[in-house]
Amino acid sequence: MIRWGVLTVAICGQTAAAEVLLTPDEIDQTLSFGPWPPITQNDPSNRVSGNAAAIALGATLFHDTALSVDHRFACSSCHDPTYSFAAPVRRAMGREKLARNSPSLMNLAGLRWYGWGGKSDNLWAASLHPIIHPVEMAQTADSWRERLANSANAAPYEALFGPLESQTPQMVLVNTAKTLAAYQETLVTPKTAFDIFRDALERGDLKTAGTYPHSAQRGLQLFLTRGNCSFCHSGPRFSNNEFHDAGVAYFIDETTVDGGRYEGLRFLFSSPYTLAGDWSDDDAKSGAWAVRNVRQTHADFGAFRTPSLRGAAHTAPYMHDGSLPDFDAVVRHYNEINMERMHTDGEAVLAPLDLTEAEVSDLTGFLETLSLRE
Ligand code: HEC
Ligand code: HEC
Repeated sequence: MIRWGVLTVAICGQTAAAEVLLTPDEIDQTLSFGPWPPITQNDPSNRVSGNAAAIALGATLFHDTALSVDHRFACSSCHDPTYSFAAPVRRAMGREKLARNSPSLMNLAGLRWYGWGGKSDNLWAASLHPIIHPVEMAQTADSWRERLANSANAAPYEALFGPLESQTPQMVLVNTAKTLAAYQETLVTPKTAFDIFRDALERGDLKTAGTYPHSAQRGLQLFLTRGNCSFCHSGPRFSNNEFHDAGVAYFIDETTVDGGRYEGLRFLFSSPYTLAGDWSDDDAKSGAWAVRNVRQTHADFGAFRTPSLRGAAHTAPYMHDGSLPDFDAVVRHYNEINMERMHTDGEAVLAPLDLTEAEVSDLTGFLETLSLRE
C-alpha cells in the first residue's frame, strides 16, 4: 500500500495550483471505487451468457416492439440508449403508469439483486418479467412462442437453442430472456474524469490527479466523510447493492404504498425464475442460498436498492419514484432529510447534513464527474 506524505504539487504556469486535497485515508477510500470497469465472469445460471450469437439476438429483440403483445413497446421504450438505458420521465409509462422510475440498465452484470425492490436474483429473470407483466409487454409464454416462430428471429433463436417446436412455451420465454440478459451484460459505462483521478492516485501520479477539479475533490471528501454517502454508495459501482430507506416517501398515491424490498421478497419467494429454481443452468445452483435464506422483516418495508451512481448524470429524474429532478434536488434531499419520514427502525446513518451552498455545489459537481460528458 502506498503511503502519502505531502500531497501538494504545484504545476508551473497555471493560475490555480493543481493539487490533491485528499488526506491519505481519503485516498485509500477513493481507491476502493475502482478499478473500472470491473472484471466480470459469465453468468453460470445463463448458458448463453457471453455467447456472441446470443448477444446479437438479445440486442435485436431489446429494440424490437414484437416483444410487446400489441407492438406498443420495445424494452428500449423505457430503457432508452440515449439516456443510459433509463427514461427521462418520473414513473415509467406502460399500459398504465407504473409505480416506479425506469432504472438504467448499465453495469448490471454479476449483481445479487435486480429491481428497486430486488424481486429478481438474476438478470434473465429481471428481463423475463416485463415480457409477461400485464401492464408492460403483456405477452403470455404461448403468445410469445407463436410470435417468435413466425418472425425473422426464429432462425437465430433455433441456431442457439434448437427447434422451437420441441420446446415448451415457458422454455422459449426463459431462453429469450437469457439472450436479453446476455446483451445487457455488455452494457458498461465508460471511464470518467473520476476514474482518471482515481487511477492516477493509485499510480502515485499526483500531477495528473491534481488536474481533477478542486470542487470535485471537496465534493468527494464530503461524500466520504460528513455526507456518509459511501456507507451505501460503495465499491466500483458506487452501490452496495443492498436495500435501505433513504427517506423518500413511499406513497404511490393517497391510498397505495410501495412496499419496496418487502414486496420484492414476496415476489421472489413465489417466482419459478430464481437461482434456486429449475430454470437456472447452473447445476451447482450457486447463489441460490441468498433466495433460500433471506427473510422478510418489517424494516424491508419502504427500503429500496441503492442505485449505482455511475452514468447517473444521464438518468434523471432520480429515486425509485423519479420524484427528484436533478442532482441538486438529491443533494438537498439528503442535506435536509426529514427524519420523521424514515421508518422507526430506519437508517441511523442518515441525518441532516447542514451543508453550505458552496458544499451543495461541490457535492453535486463530484457526482457529475462519475458520468462521461461529451
Ligand atoms: C413500461 C416500461 C418498461 C418496459 C417496456 C421495460 N421495462 Fe425494464 N424496468 C422498468 C421499470 C419501471 C423497472 C423497475 C422495476 C422494479 O423495480 O421492480 C425496470 C427494471 C428492469 C430491470 C432491473 C434493473 C436493475 O437495476 O435491477 C431490468 C434488467 C429490465 N428492466 C430489463 C428490461 C427488459 C429486458 C425489457 C424488455 C423485455 C424491459 N425491461 C422492458 C420499466 C420498463
Ligand atoms: C443509507 C444508505 C444511503 C446513504 C447513506 C446515501 N444513499 Fe443515496 N441512495 C440510497 C438509496 C436506497 C437510494 C434509492 C432511494 C429510493 O429510491 O427510495 C439512493 C438514491 C440516490 C441517488 C439517486 C440515484 C438514482 O439513479 O435514482 C443519488 C444521486 C444518491 N443517492 C446520492 C447520495 C449522496 C450524494 C449521498 C450522501 C449525501 C447518499 N446518496 C447517501 C442509499 C443511500
